[in-house]
Amino acid sequence: MTVSDPVVESVVATISRSATEIRQGLIGRRGTVDEENPSGETQAEADIWADELLGDRLAAIDGVGQYASEERTEIVDCGADPSAAESYAVAVDPLDGSSNLKSNNTMGTIFGVYDAALPARGETLVAAGFVLYGPITTMVIATDETVTEYELSGGERTVVDRDVTLPAEPVVYGFGGRVPDWPVDFREYAREIESELKLRYGGALIGDVNQVLTYGGTFGYPALESRPEGKLRLQFEGNPIGYVVEQAGGRSSDGTQSLLAVDPDALHDRTPVHVGNDDLIERLEATLA
Ligand code: AHG
Ligand code: MN
Ligand code: MN
Ligand code: MN
Repeated sequence: MTVSDPVVESVVATISRSATEIRQGLIGRRGTVDEENPSGETQAEADIWADELLGDRLAAIDGVGQYASEERTEIVDCGADPSAAESYAVAVDPLDGSSNLKSNNTMGTIFGVYDAALPARGETLVAAGFVLYGPITTMVIATDETVTEYELSGGERTVVDRDVTLPAEPVVYGFGGRVPDWPVDFREYAREIESELKLRYGGALIGDVNQVLTYGGTFGYPALESRPEGKLRLQFEGNPIGYVVEQAGGRSSDGTQSLLAVDPDALHDRTPVHVGNDDLIERLEATLA
């Protein structure tokens, strides 16, 4: 099942066709390089390699005017006429959860297709989604029409769920950061949730969010005492997964408002990230108010 917008379909097809190659290419690229990315993180060889592979291919798509990545300081101007009707900006987290390379745990690739010059509000997204490198390589794609899940194999994508919807009853939760570093009001909220739901936290945003999409519940990487802006990046992580979860019938929040309404100052802005069932996000915002 293809995506109706031809430029978005080209972006999605490029990422899904690259997924098997990226998964294979992780082998032998698990080490770190002595470079830091714009977020000040030590980069894995695979971070850089996946970014170069996806950057070249996505920037070459007609209709893609900008390419930006967690791993690059600057936005790549892809030459498409930014004022053209179908000129989109593509923001990518080439390898999400790359710290899981060492422990051979779940990772992902996240993308957002913005109908605006970057940095942009999540409300300007026309599509977003992710590849999940789990036991099976799957891809979840959200558009303003629906959320679809595919299994990827040999460059082909097969629909396995054409209407991904957050289950009404929450079952799992996962919160990032360390308990002593959580602000007191978040600690109070977390204690309540911990007494109601089952812990699922794997250290890769995409793996943890896919648990929430599958079972219902919430994932959060909250504002920390040591880092009030949180850890996750708005353009490359918060907006895309906020869009997916909201399109799947859930909610997103930075603690006070939908992630998609947050006005970015800079490309690599961080934000507190919370996604999940409506009532859980409502309780969070009421606790933090
Ligand atoms: P990335 O590998 O793209 O830098 O993302 C890592 C992020 C996200 O995947 C995950 O939710 C979070 O970092 C985990 O952080 P901790 O290691 O602090 O748990
Ligand atoms: Mn990183
Ligand atoms: Mn990430
Ligand atoms: Mn990453």
